[in-house]
Amino acid sequence: MAIDQLVKKVDGLSLAAVTDKYPTCHPEINPLDLYRAHLANVLTEITGVDHAIIYPNISWTASLDKGDLVIAVPALRVKGKKPDELAKEWAEKFPENDPLFDKPLVSTYFLTFYVNKAPLVESVIPMVRQQGPEFGRNKFSGLRDPKDPSQGKKRIIVEFSSPNIAKPFHAGHLRSTIIGGFLANLYEGAGWDVTRINYLGDWGKQYGLLALAFEKYGDEEALKADPINHLFQLYVRINADMTAEKEVIEKQKLAGEDVTELEANSLDEQARRYFKKMTEQDAAAVAQWKRFRDLSITRYKATYARLNIHFDDYSGESQVSEDAMNQIGKEMADKKIATEDKGAMIVNFADFVPGKEGKRLERPIVRKRDGTALYLTRDISELLNRHEKYKFDKMIYVVASQQDLHLKQLFKIIELLGHKDIADKCQHVNFGMVLGMSTRKGTVKFLDDILRDVADKMHETMKKNDDKYAQVEEPEKVADTLGISSVMVQDMSGKRINNYNFNMEAMTSFEGDTGPYLQYAHARVSSIRRKTDLSEEDLASADLSLLTEPHAVNIVRLLAQYPDTVQNTLKTLEPTTVLAYLFKMTHALSSSYDQLKVVGSERELMIARMALYDAAKTVLGNGMRLLGLSPVDRL
Ligand code: ARG
Repeated sequence: MAIDQLVKKVDGLSLAAVTDKYPTCHPEINPLDLYRAHLANVLTEITGVDHAIIYPNISWTASLDKGDLVIAVPALRVKGKKPDELAKEWAEKFPENDPLFDKPLVSTYFLTFYVNKAPLVESVIPMVRQQGPEFGRNKFSGLRDPKDPSQGKKRIIVEFSSPNIAKPFHAGHLRSTIIGGFLANLYEGAGWDVTRINYLGDWGKQYGLLALAFEKYGDEEALKADPINHLFQLYVRINADMTAEKEVIEKQKLAGEDVTELEANSLDEQARRYFKKMTEQDAAAVAQWKRFRDLSITRYKATYARLNIHFDDYSGESQVSEDAMNQIGKEMADKKIATEDKGAMIVNFADFVPGKEGKRLERPIVRKRDGTALYLTRDISELLNRHEKYKFDKMIYVVASQQDLHLKQLFKIIELLGHKDIADKCQHVNFGMVLGMSTRKGTVKFLDDILRDVADKMHETMKKNDDKYAQVEEPEKVADTLGISSVMVQDMSGKRINNYNFNMEAMTSFEGDTGPYLQYAHARVSSIRRKTDLSEEDLASADLSLLTEPHAVNIVRLLAQYPDTVQNTLKTLEPTTVLAYLFKMTHALSSSYDQLKVVGSERELMIARMALYDAAKTVLGNGMRLLGLSPVDRL
């Protein structure tokens, strides 16, 4: 039954009237919203508590055996009686034959509600079918004014990945890329206008040094073929030269020799001069640097594409204007936020922030003695500039927890500058470390190396099953996808802040809650359809009342939870919230196959079950794509 008919039937309301009554309630995209609205309506009658208080206090449960919805009676703040007694009293008064719920269960002061199966089954499956890839998205939550869509969407900037050109793409960048890509998808699905920014480490004396290295050792062909590796090799080589040179200078100094000339011509000094030329917009120096940058970006883009990630803007430290930084520097000095300390400008947070917190923020330098700006200074300017340019409602920085202090300092300085409103829109989404990230070919340097190694490993595993392997059309491509899934699922399994071990064996296994297992579950549910000759029309006309077995009903109850899971993820900002849901679904599916045979069942039953599995496939796929995975149909 279509959800609008169901709403009409149970509460005599139109969809619009329901949303008018409960502003965040949208039964047309979230089946449980209808259940909550109805429950709030019924309970208002019984309890006398205002429906607007009841509705937000209806929670979901941790697992299906704990019911579908639950209310903690004390949350409704009814005075005069003990919550336990109220719970009992209200449960008794709950109507015997409510169209959507069984009579609630009471344990201490909790009221637990189980949905009445048939209406759920008959409304959820058609909704998933009808919405397909849209199911789980919620275009309302990103609206500036939910009552007036013409006010447009809220705008969010997600800054993530942000590697440093010519330096290794380390685990911190990997995690930022995975988590940031996911968050961008999440907000997009929630109806926000999302801008993805990659803030490259692409400026500083080291890029002067890199240009010198290219003059000395560069190879045009190698640069074009694999800029990221070539630039890295040059960087390693010139750094070795520089270390050797420093040793020579030290030795001569110790021997009492005059090193003035050596120092004046040292690589370090040359690099400094070269970088100075870059900052002064010397055409040749800027052109060379830009070429390195552009070639690197082209390569990064190809790698990001393998992860289904793109950026709207490749910004970077180089893009922050010296003028803007000078201006901010002056403003900080005028407002006495930055003060002089041995020729440098520092922010002594203890002067502004009382107690321990002020000490914890330390005394960062914002301008060195020689006038150069620092990482923090650039971030200050860049943040204000982005606000100017994008007028964002929210900005997320996806950066390792090693930089917690840096981002706290940044946001606090923005606040001290008089922009508390802007600081409040910014959020640091942090994460822990990856331990032992090395591949069989040595320590990981670049994202491509990791992905290649994991794909090789998956390919080996796939070859072990000859029969199946022969059926896979593009085994290398599938191995690549499975490899990427392995890395991503391992990364997203725990809470972001936890460290984890990079474990190639564990992540590529088909056993346990891994990427390959998730892909396998999706491929298996996809394969059922191939074994039947059912058309879309058959599925659309399925008699869903035939789905009465507990296994079937439980899958539907999980399907109904998907939109809530996504909404909850907007609060936790944890990929594991979605992932844990998906594994619950795969477990429910795998235990159902023996009970709910499709092929071999009588035709009407076959159609009904196929409609169920088809809906499950849609939701699994939607969740996987939200995480940034590419679901496979065969492996
Ligand atoms: N490139 C930096 C690094 O590798 C990360 C940049 C983080 N973003 C920022 N706005 N500071 O450590």
